[in-house]
Amino acid sequence: MNTRIVTIDSSNINQTDIEEAAEVLRKGGLVAFPTETVYGLGADGLDGNASKKIYEAKGRPSDNPLILHIADLEALKELTADCPENGIKLAKAFWPGPLTLIFNKSSKVPYSTTGGLDTVAIRMPSHPIARELIKRSGLYIAAPSANISGRPSPTRAAHVIEDFNGIIDMIIDGGMVEIGLESTIVDVTSAVPVILRPGYITAGMISEIIGEVEFDKAVLAKVQDLSIKPKAPGMKYKHYAPKGDLTIYEGNSDNVIRAINIITKEKMKSGFKVGIIATDETYALYEEGIVKTIGTRKDESTIARGLFEILREFDSEGADYIFTESFDNNQLGQAIMNRLLKAAGYHIEKV
Ligand code: TXA
Ligand code: MG
Repeated sequence: MNTRIVTIDSSNINQTDIEEAAEVLRKGGLVAFPTETVYGLGADGLDGNASKKIYEAKGRPSDNPLILHIADLEALKELTADCPENGIKLAKAFWPGPLTLIFNKSSKVPYSTTGGLDTVAIRMPSHPIARELIKRSGLYIAAPSANISGRPSPTRAAHVIEDFNGIIDMIIDGGMVEIGLESTIVDVTSAVPVILRPGYITAGMISEIIGEVEFDKAVLAKVQDLSIKPKAPGMKYKHYAPKGDLTIYEGNSDNVIRAINIITKEKMKSGFKVGIIATDETYALYEEGIVKTIGTRKDESTIARGLFEILREFDSEGADYIFTESFDNNQLGQAIMNRLLKAAGYHIEKV
């Protein structure tokens, strides 16, 4: 297949290009597009055949449900069986934005989109290109992150091109995303809502709106416990993983740097290529290996934004081993560590 790649300026959206993408979606095709979190791989969410194509293209297990992207609150009436008050409050507080809510689904939503579940994940993205595409197409767009299953999520069109050129109909290049981590997922079907995936919208921000909120047990686990089944089916798979063997070093900063310097020398002596994920604050303290800074600890949002890209960069450079510092486990750091732990297959060294 010849994949059409179109660059669209999000501050001055070319309507002809958006219409072309909308038409591809209406015809049952696949279009990758930017959102504020990561790039999504979109298809008509109410067309079972179209969402089937998403699963095929990504190599995604069919029990892993898709998020439906909407552009206005009216859509909830059509897509959900009921809208609990907590859901409405959160939607009003954070939509459009990086929050996905889980509701009981209406009969309009096909099981092929929800992976056989009676619930449906819904998000109203804030990215102008995503919003325009949803509105223009007149559809609810089912869109997982636009990466081959298991690979780091894409934060630039180049990452999508790497994974899907020649495989999908169209890719919209809208530049680098803003946030860089996938949306926070909150299940509002239970009396006390449950966070199934941490993200930019933190537990603190959520509880300010609705009071009590819980974490799904699998989210906070620092070791992989196979007896805990995550409520978001996608969270059980090995994820975000670079090709190299990733290890997280946790402890005080001096110890971490010392340990990474030692292991790096050891591996390089044995002929391996080693990548190091540093921060602006520690970059100069690493002695060998391919050292890259992910962002500054003074502003965790820079780290969130850089994470998936740096993992992909080490892939392109053929790193056999990647060693990374760890990040704080509160607020946005919680989402960063959640992704990092999965990418590392839960391999942490405490130093
Ligand atoms: O930021 C995002 O959410 C991005 C952009 C493109 O919107 N999308 C995204 O989709 O991250 P995906 O498919 O990569 O992750 C969706 C997650 C999966 O872990 C899936 O299992 C979970 O949402 N999920 C979807 N529907 C669900 C449901 N009904 N119940 C529980 N979890 C659900
Ligand atoms: Mg994904």
